[in-house]
Amino acid sequence: MKVKKLLLIVIVFTAIVFVAACEKEEDTNRNGYDYLVLVNKYSQLPDDWEDKVELVDAKNAWDEDIQLEKEAYDNYLKLEAALKKEGVSIVLDSVYRSVQEQQDLWDEWAADPEKGLDYVKKFVAVPGFSEHHTGLAIDICLMVDGELVFDNDEMIEERDIFEKIHKKLADYGFILRYLENREDSTGYTYEPWHLRYIGSKKIAKYIMDNDLTFEEYLESVTDYNKYPEAAKYRIETTLKKEFEEKTYKDKISNVRFDVKKIYTSKDAKDDSTIKGLELGDKDLAFEVEYQLLPQEGIDYNTLIVTDGKYNEELGWVTNINRLGVIRYENGSYTVTQLDTGW
Ligand code: DAL
Ligand code: ZN
Repeated sequence: MKVKKLLLIVIVFTAIVFVAACEKEEDTNRNGYDYLVLVNKYSQLPDDWEDKVELVDAKNAWDEDIQLEKEAYDNYLKLEAALKKEGVSIVLDSVYRSVQEQQDLWDEWAADPEKGLDYVKKFVAVPGFSEHHTGLAIDICLMVDGELVFDNDEMIEERDIFEKIHKKLADYGFILRYLENREDSTGYTYEPWHLRYIGSKKIAKYIMDNDLTFEEYLESVTDYNKYPEAAKYRIETTLKKEFEEKTYKDKISNVRFDVKKIYTSKDAKDDSTIKGLELGDKDLAFEVEYQLLPQEGIDYNTLIVTDGKYNEELGWVTNINRLGVIRYENGSYTVTQLDTGW
């Protein structure tokens, strides 16, 4: 038999064609920015944020021109309408504030000799460190019996009204940002009027139902025993982002990750499946199953997959267990895939 050219190329390819509609997972990275951006006393507004954020015009309670992030505003309007049906009337107060506007606010408070800077810092963020710079923070005021209530102390008295408002926030992707008696976590005293749009109803519900501060939610991946769902969600969305950006950026926009197990570094040492990993105290290891669900219109022949199975409805599906390590440090995550069988 004629010996053919010795080909070193082993084609392991699977043409993956999907027409099935698959449920779109809620991804908080949209419109070029991360709706889960953390801005607090220790975490400054990202440098490029103000160039990216899409602001729209609105009017506040005093008919002044104001701006806020587009999606946040759309959802605010829905929240406002839903509350109206319950007899609660909310009105916009302060929303997007540039760094300069925050500076003016700061100067105004700091000019009061009776207050002192430590006092001011409890209520007003240092310019550059205010969530209002994101366009995702909304201060509201109330209409009560035809009267506008906007003074902070008077608003705090309106407990029943704010309870109704807070109950509805998550349905529209908002959370209450500065919870009562949680200054230790948020850095600020109670602000029932300060709403924060986070771009995910699912996460918002999780945060509100569990009475978490936003900081606690974002840190939850390091405390997965306490907040397992949050940790799982965080890992899944992080992996998705990492994978899409770094691996098949142009080809795949839809990858599902199902986190099977999460380990602490201590567990990891005892577990043979991830033996040999050098994990620092703050590292988590995870075992995850990927399911590749590429888009239509892609030349799937260019994708090489090492494993796959045929599904009557979906066509070729890869369904591969992968190992990775997620490292959480200073509010950001890095993901390292340990085996690269792609
Ligand atoms: N009042 C909030 C903390 C701010 O100034 O951003
Ligand atoms: Zn505010």
